[in-house]
Amino acid sequence: MRLLIVGAGYVGITIGVVLSETHHVTLLDVDKSRVDMINQGICPIHEEGLPDLLKSAVSNEKMRAILPNNSIGQQDVILICVGTPSNTDGSVNLSYIMNSIDLIFQKINELLSDYMIIGIKSTVPPGTTRTLILNRISELGINPGSIGVIFNPEFLREGRALYDAQKPDRIVIGAADKKAADIVQKMYETSLTHQTKFVKMSIESAELCKYVSNSFLATKISFANEMANIVENVSNADIEEIMLGVGLDSRIAPSFLASGAGYGGSCFPKDIDGLIHIAENDYKIEVPILRAIKSVNSFRPDKLVNMLLKANQNISGKKIAVLGLAYKPGTDDTRESPSLKVIKLLLDLNAEVWVHDPLALKMKLNSEFSSMIKISDNLEACLKDACACILVTAWNIYEQTGLDTLTKFMKDKIFIDGRRIFSRSEIPDNLIYYTIGRKWQ
Ligand code: NAD
Ligand code: UGA
Repeated sequence: MRLLIVGAGYVGITIGVVLSETHHVTLLDVDKSRVDMINQGICPIHEEGLPDLLKSAVSNEKMRAILPNNSIGQQDVILICVGTPSNTDGSVNLSYIMNSIDLIFQKINELLSDYMIIGIKSTVPPGTTRTLILNRISELGINPGSIGVIFNPEFLREGRALYDAQKPDRIVIGAADKKAADIVQKMYETSLTHQTKFVKMSIESAELCKYVSNSFLATKISFANEMANIVENVSNADIEEIMLGVGLDSRIAPSFLASGAGYGGSCFPKDIDGLIHIAENDYKIEVPILRAIKSVNSFRPDKLVNMLLKANQNISGKKIAVLGLAYKPGTDDTRESPSLKVIKLLLDLNAEVWVHDPLALKMKLNSEFSSMIKISDNLEACLKDACACILVTAWNIYEQTGLDTLTKFMKDKIFIDGRRIFSRSEIPDNLIYYTIGRKWQ
């Protein structure tokens, strides 16, 4: 099949590379540097395993990238994968989606042969696909039998994007007609070696399915974090032991019960805000659970700083090391990272903040306080003479380095482990070690 993917970001590139196994994929993006990199066989995002596959897909002419003003040619399936960030009021910014759809309909005569599918993969509020695509087809008087319309949510995780795209737990296809849904199923089946479940539903169910999935995963995390707050008051209790006992119940499942610094990233925070906005503003209903998930999460960075203040009241003018800037290990993405909030709180207390990350520092730190902190990919320099350390991102390198070596050159031995990576390690005698979900000594 000939596939056009609009938006060459985390989702567009990953899905494009996987589908280029058996299809001809064109990635369309407005970012010229991104398009040039892809055409040179260079992967513009950090994802394990992706660079080699992208390089060979481009050199085998199974994949290419273009700008909107380039000619495209006839296509069988178009998938829109552009960003849907939050507006300041929490509502979903659909401007990139609308620009993509405008472009597709401007070029419809070039793209359409007998039958073509237009689908959205970006996360969008219920009703978006019908309003922006199906209604547009009838407004323009295009034969509705010549275009199938689908919404096909994406569930991949950053840092494991290729694995998730190659071996998805399920593929959800929301479609207005069976023909479109069956073609999209076939499109995936020919590229995936792994057998997966296909779940077909209405377009609106599929749009909501994405929000509900992310909300439930975030619920598990905030629930685990709230339980950790309780556990911290009970001598000899430990949240990890408890959640192991809880998660092995097959009705609950063990994943996403790790308490810590809270969730960040480009999706959970914006999708929770998006669903709250849809419910409260569009449907005028209250969503106390979603509000609580958000509220519990927003206090996790404060919690880490409070743990530090319990160990040392006065950090003004003192060097504090923060380990980890990415919102989770395996990615260079710092969007909505809990680390940024921890840094801001420390700066408000006049601390001298040093930050280490093995990957994210290579990116330009785009934040209002980037000039006020010292950033380094040298772990020793970051920790040397520090009066305390807060670990926010569970990078392997910290665990591999070990608590002894990490704290060796610190001035005052205070270590706040926001991800419990040393919760089972032996703690050196001279170290004040506080972690989540266990009574602080
Ligand atoms: P991203 O920001 O990494 O990439 C979006 C790309 O779209 C950028 O390269 C941008 O230049 C391009 N773009 C913007 N406007 C365009 C236009 N008019 N025409 C062509 N290209 C355009 O975004 P992402 O992280 O890949 O997310 C895309 C969507 O998928 C979002 O709705 C997100 O919620 C959803 N999603 C993301 C993930 C993830 O892990 N990142 C997972 C599942 C779903
Ligand atoms: C998440 C979902 O897991 C994907 O299914 C979804 O496709 C994606 O959002 C999206 O819609 O974009 P992602 O944000 O890439 O993926 O990463 P996760 O592994 O889900 O982690 C999100 C955040 O939750 C991270 O900050 C992580 O540290 C935190 N987390 C995760 C916890 O605090 N505890 C856990 O047990 C799990």
